[in-house]
Amino acid sequence: TNSVSLFSLLFRLSRCILTPLYRLSPPLDIQLETVNCSAFSVRWKMPRRHVSTITGYKVFYTELKNSRPVATTSLMDVPLSLEMLTTEVDIGNLKVNTKYRVSVGAYGWAGEGRPSMPRDVSTASHEMCMPPSPPTQPVVMAVSDTELALSWQQGETEGSAPVLHFLVAYIRPEMDTEWTYIREPIETNSMVLKGLIPETEYQFVVRAVNMHGVSPPSRINNPVRTLGSSDVGSGDIGSYFTDSKFKDEDGLDIDDSDYDIFIEEVSRKIFPSSTTTGTTTFSPWEGEVPRVYDLTCDDTVCPPDSFCLGDYDSGGSRCHCNLGRTGDTCSEVNFPRFYEYSHMTFEPLKNSYQTFQITLDFKANSEDGLLLYCGENEHGRGDFASLALIRGKIHYRFNCGTGAAQIVSESQIVVGRWHTVTVFRDGMSGWLRLDNDTPISGRSQGQYTKITFRSQLYLGGSPSTYWLVRATGTNRGFEGCVQSLTINNKVVDLRPWPLGKALSGADIGECSDSVCNQVSCANGGVCFANRADGYICLCPLGFRGLLCEESFLLSSPLFNETVFSYAVIPWPQRPQNYLSFMEFEVTFWPSTPDGVLLYSDDAASGDFLAINIVDKYVEFRFDCGSGEAVIRSDEQISLDSWHELRVTRTAKSGILQVDSQRAVEGISEGAFTQINCSSPLYIGGVPHYDKTKRTARVLKPFTGIIQKLILNDRTISITAGSAGGVNVINSAHPCVDSPCANGGTCRPKWDGYECDCPLGYDGRHCQKAVTEAIEIPQFIGRSYLTYDNRDILKRVSGSRTNLFMRFRSTAKDGLLLWRGDSPLRSNSDFLSMGLQDGNIVFSYNLGSGVASIVVNGTFSDGKWHKVKAVRDGQSGKLTVDDYGAKTGRSPGKMRQLNINGPLYVGGMKEIALHTNRQYFGGLVGCVSHFTLSTDYHLALVEDAADGKNINTCSI
Ligand SMILES: *[C@@H]1O[C@H](CO)[C@@H](O)[C@H](O)[C@H]1NC(C)=O
Ligand SMILES: *[C@@H]1O[C@H](CO)[C@@H](O)[C@H](O)[C@H]1NC(C)=O
Ligand SMILES: *[C@@H]1O[C@H](CO)[C@@H](O)[C@H](O)[C@H]1NC(C)=O
Ligand SMILES: *[C@@H]1O[C@H](CO)[C@@H](O)[C@H](O)[C@H]1NC(C)=O
Repeated sequence: TNSVSLFSLLFRLSRCILTPLYRLSPPLDIQLETVNCSAFSVRWKMPRRHVSTITGYKVFYTELKNSRPVATTSLMDVPLSLEMLTTEVDIGNLKVNTKYRVSVGAYGWAGEGRPSMPRDVSTASHEMCMPPSPPTQPVVMAVSDTELALSWQQGETEGSAPVLHFLVAYIRPEMDTEWTYIREPIETNSMVLKGLIPETEYQFVVRAVNMHGVSPPSRINNPVRTLGSSDVGSGDIGSYFTDSKFKDEDGLDIDDSDYDIFIEEVSRKIFPSSTTTGTTTFSPWEGEVPRVYDLTCDDTVCPPDSFCLGDYDSGGSRCHCNLGRTGDTCSEVNFPRFYEYSHMTFEPLKNSYQTFQITLDFKANSEDGLLLYCGENEHGRGDFASLALIRGKIHYRFNCGTGAAQIVSESQIVVGRWHTVTVFRDGMSGWLRLDNDTPISGRSQGQYTKITFRSQLYLGGSPSTYWLVRATGTNRGFEGCVQSLTINNKVVDLRPWPLGKALSGADIGECSDSVCNQVSCANGGVCFANRADGYICLCPLGFRGLLCEESFLLSSPLFNETVFSYAVIPWPQRPQNYLSFMEFEVTFWPSTPDGVLLYSDDAASGDFLAINIVDKYVEFRFDCGSGEAVIRSDEQISLDSWHELRVTRTAKSGILQVDSQRAVEGISEGAFTQINCSSPLYIGGVPHYDKTKRTARVLKPFTGIIQKLILNDRTISITAGSAGGVNVINSAHPCVDSPCANGGTCRPKWDGYECDCPLGYDGRHCQKAVTEAIEIPQFIGRSYLTYDNRDILKRVSGSRTNLFMRFRSTAKDGLLLWRGDSPLRSNSDFLSMGLQDGNIVFSYNLGSGVASIVVNGTFSDGKWHKVKAVRDGQSGKLTVDDYGAKTGRSPGKMRQLNINGPLYVGGMKEIALHTNRQYFGGLVGCVSHFTLSTDYHLALVEDAADGKNINTCSI
């Protein structure tokens, strides 16, 4: 401010003292230059003689046509200040390819000076200001129900300036009338769109933008439909293509119109598999390295899951596996192997502008090659971070915009050996650590601390590795294997999206190919490569050990995702029995926040059902064939503790109840109401995650214990019988040590257990032999006695029945007596008596409807009561103590009770299942004086054919 006030003081002073004086002379050496189509620049030098102070300049310019002025003269005032002694300006907003006449004059305390001699200049012609040409037709590289990967290439020219970014627009032809532009400018040649609507067609158009403007639109792709329930049949990962397919190094565009998302299916149908091709034209693709053919792509047949590209280095053509596929037949990839010209891409580094940490486990076959690259763009210009092998040392470079940091490992890697490298950056400083070496740190130049990451993250190379040499130090791709990649403490799943995170890639092989060659797992186990150079045996149920060499008794199933465990169980009844209704009850102990508890599906349709744990929520998903239902628990469940869940599906509606949380309901979409599962029930995992229905979101195994599984009241054993599975071991549970003696069975109940004792044994562990005869048996709610003696059974069938017993009960509900068909169908014959809510109920069905006769009271008082039930044809009568009799009559025409099964007293096995939910438990109490047909006295225990948990009644 001092200088300004000094300036104005001088100004005022000079006004008084120095005026009037000579007029200012014109500025000298006027230079005009075309800048672009709408601007030119003017430069000049101060007038030579100026006694008076100059306070500014005026630039006059007039549009000319045929060397004649055609408009009024415009003026640009360029006032001077002490800070800004300008003698150059750009004049913009002019007409394209137009001449202008320009002169410059100075002004100052002495007033306006003479303008310079006019001179002419032109703005540039159209060709100098071209926007880019349109990009290539966008190609959908992968599609799921809600996400889609889109790729395109810059068109023939960038126009008159480099392409700054692309604009992408989409339309849903079935619902939209206008294109919607994605607001964000896209600076790469590909993008992943999320949040799409399933089962909807999408079309895309791309425009390129440079400083001169926006290109015309690209060609529109053919509509691509996002997946929905009906498309999820195989759960296959979509098809992946590499960038290089669309544009090879010579800039040759390959017509991509055939490469829509269904190429995988199409090629499977059209091309014979490589094993059936014997002729030279169809020579199978052998060996690890994709083979170079002498033929052109027109004459080459590549295996399914691959595509052909001309090889312009060595002539001929080459088959390239799609991402996630490898080998002769392009089978699936788990641990990527790179061949110097391979690469994989992932999403750009996120949340890493200021700081990041990346760890890579790799084994190199060559001392040179690019391991990782991510930057502002694909060309290594501007910001970037890279990791490369150069003559055996690791070079870690990053550039925040004003000069790269370069950190080099002290020691060299050993070819063929595994190494772990970790790099870290915070602002301008970073460090690199190779294996257990001391970290080496370094700094970048300049003052910028942020790195802009816009390109995808490239692993093992990039399609333009060659051009990255200035930035990264190598022009070769990596040769070797990658075991794992961890970014900011998160392990990146290297499998193709959506199973993993890889977005695209080319020529990725499998590292673990030969791992299992020398291994033979015993007892039917199967070797499986779980690391690039490691394996585990997948042991069948009942075997364990490194090579499944040890057999054991499975009793408390523990599942573990690290060993890929699962159990597989046939549905207990035919799928027809579960079409409209199913109810699962599961007792489980989760140890990790995610994993599949239960899954089954239908190969022929979209039907499935799945119970998953997702981020500690329980999720029940099912699909009757016309759209899924997703029912998620309100609250998260705690890990490493016991939980109970019940899911019920009735036609399209489902209910999920977890512990004591609110029951959550949901309804599946569409009109279909039945689920017809052709697959068995998978528990705790599945053998092939990529073969599950996509919308079932079955992604990883369950880790933890599944103690109990009940389907429609039927307990399903995961440990024995027809169950199969892999790597299920025993949890630490007392039942594992078979604590129940004398043939008793151990029933786990969370961490505890109960022994079910056979008739004749008693005690907590069935260790006590019952020596004296039991005259009055005691029942504990999970006890029963059964009778198959003909003399007895004939008295509980036919046209008449007369029952008498004394009982006492401490529970309000409990079955006293049952005889019925098994399984019980609707309207199949049965006869039963029991306590329901303290009342006594006598009911029977003779085949044409149920009679139910109730005597109300509080008979669960622990006191002895007498009950007499008489049936004569359809009529029945129930008398309890002195409460008088109740009568009833069964409907319909049937008069005879026709049953083949045994008679149960005091309870039965799986009561809910066999009584069709009339009863859920057995009697808690005692029975005595059991008499049939008024004169046939049963010795309750002695006459029994079998029994469980029978004790002497303590009177
Ligand atoms: C032309 O140049 C002027 C002055 O440098 C600049 O402001 C303008 O953005 C340019 N116009 C185009 C279309 O490049
Ligand atoms: C799963 O198995 C791995 C490897 O055998 C073991 O380290 C881990 O503790 C197991 N997890 C559970 C929950 O048993
Ligand atoms: C269920 O699937 C089986 C085998 O796929 C088929 O035979 C049967 O007809 C199907 N039932 C219904 C009701 O769709
Ligand atoms: C018997 O009890 C049931 C349920 O407890 C009740 O609905 C019914 O009305 C009662 N009948 C008589 C006769 O009290």
